[in-house]
Amino acid sequence: MQIVETIKQVRQIIALQKKRGKRIGFVPTMGALHQGHLSLIRLAKKHSDFVVVSIFVNPTQFGPKEDYKKYPRNLKKDAALCQSAGADLIFSPNVKEVYSKGFSTFINVEGLTQGLCGASRPGHFRGVATVVSKLLNIVQPDAAVFGQKDAQQLAVIRQMTKDLDLPIKIIGAPIVRERDGLAMSSRNAYLTLEERAEAPALYRALQLAVSMVKSGKREADSVKREMAKLLYRDAPLGEIDYIEIVDNEALKPVKQVKKNTLIALAMNFPSARLIDNIIGA
Ligand code: PAF
Repeated sequence: MQIVETIKQVRQIIALQKKRGKRIGFVPTMGALHQGHLSLIRLAKKHSDFVVVSIFVNPTQFGPKEDYKKYPRNLKKDAALCQSAGADLIFSPNVKEVYSKGFSTFINVEGLTQGLCGASRPGHFRGVATVVSKLLNIVQPDAAVFGQKDAQQLAVIRQMTKDLDLPIKIIGAPIVRERDGLAMSSRNAYLTLEERAEAPALYRALQLAVSMVKSGKREADSVKREMAKLLYRDAPLGEIDYIEIVDNEALKPVKQVKKNTLIALAMNFPSARLIDNIIGA
């Protein structure tokens, strides 16, 4: 497995692999890798012959009061994890390599980015769409894998890929959870012991939603009410940012939970913002 820092190096290596007839898989990350990321790399490997992982903490997707500076960076550890999961190449550029002097082109996916996390993180998806479009253009993979945990990000990237006619298969990968149900996230490491003990309540709220739907209680408002009650009771250190029940493509609120309905929530704990979701039963 090679680690390179420049766009030129990536392009040279990919050109060679393509010449050899290899299908290229791609997993964009911001590093601080965990088992969730490794599952993305393994899935990419199933869909391709040569897997590229990018490790880049993208400044344009962080708000001014967010954790860009303190976001964990440990290339050595990440590289070892990538290798263990079967990655073939790491692209780890610095900020200047990605955003050259005078950079002034941004991608804005409209509509989809208004609600859910977009409402409380203005500009976040503009930064994500911009960096992902650049990375896809640099790597030019056949397939790229993104986690379902960031369901809105996945929807935005699918839309962008379609709108820009990018010939890339976008693959969503299932959420990987800790034993107590907490969705794996690099930001879980910020949680205090007390917050960590409360954090699995997010998944329990989603499970409660699923069990309500299974018992025929499909009305979105009452599902949301019961989820909120559980969170107030079991996670008092956190503050609910949103609980939304939307269709999984347009991300528009629905009145009844159906098969393709996304139940998503975000909570702000003093040390970290956590998100989670499930596709309705
Ligand atoms: O999901 C992430 O880690 C980031 O948003 C991504 C897709 C790597 C873009 O910076």
